[in-house]
Amino acid sequence: MIRIENLSFSYEDKQVLKDINFSIKEKEKVVLLGINGSGKSTLLKILNGLIFPDRGSYYFKDELITEKRLKDKEFARKFRKSNVLLFQSPDSMIFNPTVYDEIAFGLRQLSQDGIDEKVRFWADKLGIYRYLDRSPFELSGGEKQKVCLASILVLEPELLLLDEPTANLDPRTTGWFIDFLSELDTTVITTTHNLSLAPELGERGIVLSEDHTVIYDGDINSFIDNIDLLKKANLVHTHYHRHGKLKHKHYHTHDF
Ligand SMILES: Nc1ncnc2c1ncn2[C@@H]1O[C@H](COP(=O)(O)OP(=O)(O)OP(=O)(O)O)[C@@H](O)[C@H]1O
Ligand SMILES: [Mg+2]
Repeated sequence: MIRIENLSFSYEDKQVLKDINFSIKEKEKVVLLGINGSGKSTLLKILNGLIFPDRGSYYFKDELITEKRLKDKEFARKFRKSNVLLFQSPDSMIFNPTVYDEIAFGLRQLSQDGIDEKVRFWADKLGIYRYLDRSPFELSGGEKQKVCLASILVLEPELLLLDEPTANLDPRTTGWFIDFLSELDTTVITTTHNLSLAPELGERGIVLSEDHTVIYDGDINSFIDNIDLLKKANLVHTHYHRHGKLKHKHYHTHDF
């Protein structure tokens, strides 16, 4: 479904993705890991056709995705329906006066049938039915996250790109989200720095290093169990802590 070949990307003169290569098959669930600033969100934006590589190629369903290709309205319409991105910050996605309008927006743009039924179905599935007439701006962070999720799932996409989807969710909702994701019959790429959550989000991990290259692509558990790889990705930390009266410092992989 996805093929990335020798892809590089820079914001002005700052290179944030270097010579990236990978392929993702249909229905695969992939976790994208890497420290702050390693380029995860940038990569998801490229996969969603919002920004374009300086070098290398990105193929989605065997089509080369370029700015020019997406100027073709019919192609862009198909692409935007099947390839969706949940932004890291829900506030940057929300702009409609009601939750209902927020969820219906994409379907209206695409002039789909059965909008009302679909909006209500997904609002119910995500537990936000009672907010349909409310302003999405008045909701809590987690509730906003669910509205954003409903607004992309309602399109019944083939590829879901999820940027830190559980960042605003409480433990119960995170548990629900993991179950929900595992039942979803869609290709999903999810970013996180949460190592204990990562294996729940997919079997395969792709890891970006601080210098913006892929340093691991494979079984997620093998990555998490390998302290040398974790150190290379800077995904372990040291801090002082106490065991009884003893205060000492060693590597930790737990999440805060
Ligand atoms: N619009 C932008 N203009 C200029 N630089 C940017 C822009 N967006 C991101 N960057 C820079 O590109 C680098 C990669 O950012 P990106 O958001 O992709 O990282 P990330 O891995 O998603 O980080 P985080 O874990 O903090 O979400 C960072 O150094 C960031 O400062
Ligand atoms: Mg990010």
